[in-house]
Amino acid sequence: MTTSMTSSIPMLRERPAWAALAKHYDEIRERHLRDLFAEDRMRGERLVAEGGGLFLDYSKNRITDATVTLLVQLAEQSGLRERTEAMFSGERINVSENRSVLHVALRMPKGTSLIVDGVDVVAEVHEVLDRMSSFAERVRSGAWTGHTGKPIRNVVNIGIGGSDLGPVMAYEALRHYSDRAMTFRFVSNVDSTDFVEATRDLAPEETLFIVSSKTFTTLETMTNARSARDWALAGLGDEAAIAKHFVAVSTNAEKVSEFGIDTENMFGFWEWVGGRYSMDSAIGLSTMLAIGPGRFQEMLAGFHDMDEHFRNTPFDRNLPVLLGLLAVWYGDFFGAQTAGVMPYNQYLKRFPAYLQQLTMESNGKHVTLDGTTVDYDTGAIYWGEPGTNGQHSFYQLIHQGTRLIPVDLIGFGKSLNPLRDHHDLLMSNVFAQAEALAFGRTEREVRDEGTPEPIVPHRVMQGNRPTNVILAELLTPRTLGALVALYEHSVFTQGVIWTIDSFDQWGVELGKALASRIVPELESEDAPQLHHDSSTNALIRRYRVMRR
Ligand code: F6P
Repeated sequence: MTTSMTSSIPMLRERPAWAALAKHYDEIRERHLRDLFAEDRMRGERLVAEGGGLFLDYSKNRITDATVTLLVQLAEQSGLRERTEAMFSGERINVSENRSVLHVALRMPKGTSLIVDGVDVVAEVHEVLDRMSSFAERVRSGAWTGHTGKPIRNVVNIGIGGSDLGPVMAYEALRHYSDRAMTFRFVSNVDSTDFVEATRDLAPEETLFIVSSKTFTTLETMTNARSARDWALAGLGDEAAIAKHFVAVSTNAEKVSEFGIDTENMFGFWEWVGGRYSMDSAIGLSTMLAIGPGRFQEMLAGFHDMDEHFRNTPFDRNLPVLLGLLAVWYGDFFGAQTAGVMPYNQYLKRFPAYLQQLTMESNGKHVTLDGTTVDYDTGAIYWGEPGTNGQHSFYQLIHQGTRLIPVDLIGFGKSLNPLRDHHDLLMSNVFAQAEALAFGRTEREVRDEGTPEPIVPHRVMQGNRPTNVILAELLTPRTLGALVALYEHSVFTQGVIWTIDSFDQWGVELGKALASRIVPELESEDAPQLHHDSSTNALIRRYRVMRR
């Protein structure tokens, strides 16, 4: 499958900037951040960028000005400008699924328009947003009542992947702004424990289920939704109750109504919204119920701020482009296999998990858009934990281990819960970690501190470990939107360099198909002969015995 968008772009290794970067890498791979900072006293003030209310310090990366110039050339030679315009204008850049990729339309302001295949998608987006808003107002005010006339106090979102990770991350991130009289729960795992624990203390007459699934066929979600219906019926005793206690978010009206949810109570979105890019679509209904429509709009405005920044800012000052190019630099030249993202904000505790799907489902690909197997590394493994907790756990390996792990440290100027000196202590750790990782501690410094000789090598910290520091004034719906869009567009930038399809996810299909084949084999010991490999056959037989 060759697309007109990329047919004129040479394979990655044949782009002139790639060869230049390979040569440049050999020249600077041994250079230490200590020297780079010593040579340029303004480095920390020069290698920064701002956009969408976020500030990025990328000075503690193993780069020089020449590196940035070459990476920007690589972006140009990879067609990033053209591909970005293609995305924003609704071209079918998701080639393997033949779909447009228009999450950016989800946050275009009311009154603007984007015509795709003769349809104004922005008008459609706002039609759904208006319906969501009026529904959210009714639930939050108590005007929408459950079957017995009681107001809804509990909201349970049932979904998985993009239909769960975005909503749960946003709920946790914006909890400060949420209606504390309401309880929000998120059920994703097909392990029944997830559903049982999430609902055990909830009263059915006050509980609303949002069944969130783009396809409305996902095994985990449909299984949980069926259990939710049983649970609600057991508590309320009447089929008619379903209409008051279940709403759906989906692109598949037929399946929604087959399940028994009135499509009047369905909030739609479109095939051009990828699951992992959907938290700002109707999939964000739980977020809107928690923080209210006004604040949801603020979050959308934050996304849009970053969209505009990404689309209009020169690459060398463009936050998502810089982050994306640095990810390519470390992954493909330094051979970094993983990347850490450490938010120094407890509200962002689910942000790394959210980013894992965004980054790894998007860029975990082994062929280019035209199906050629790549001969370079693509998406890194993303992981992280909120600071400062990680410091007392795995940071040791980042500081003194043998692997290079570039890390993003995210911090805020103010705390939403100021208490004594907590916030200064928290932020001092952001700055200290970035400093320690970059500059380390030399043998001489360790010795000068009076360290006994045999301990000296243990206390030496090589430094030269790269970080990006991302700062915003306060965690608000708007900054959250900008932060998510920052990573969305960074992922896109990386995908464009690698010429892969960042918007499909064929890799998750095989496991799903095999699991559905195995289910009947577990249920019955008289099932047809097992025809798997010897290990799978033996595991199934053992499980049959264990489940008796
Ligand atoms: O894991 C594969 C996947 O298709 C994700 O891309 C998606 O976010 C998730 O499953 C859930 O899909 P759906 O919203 O259709 O239930």
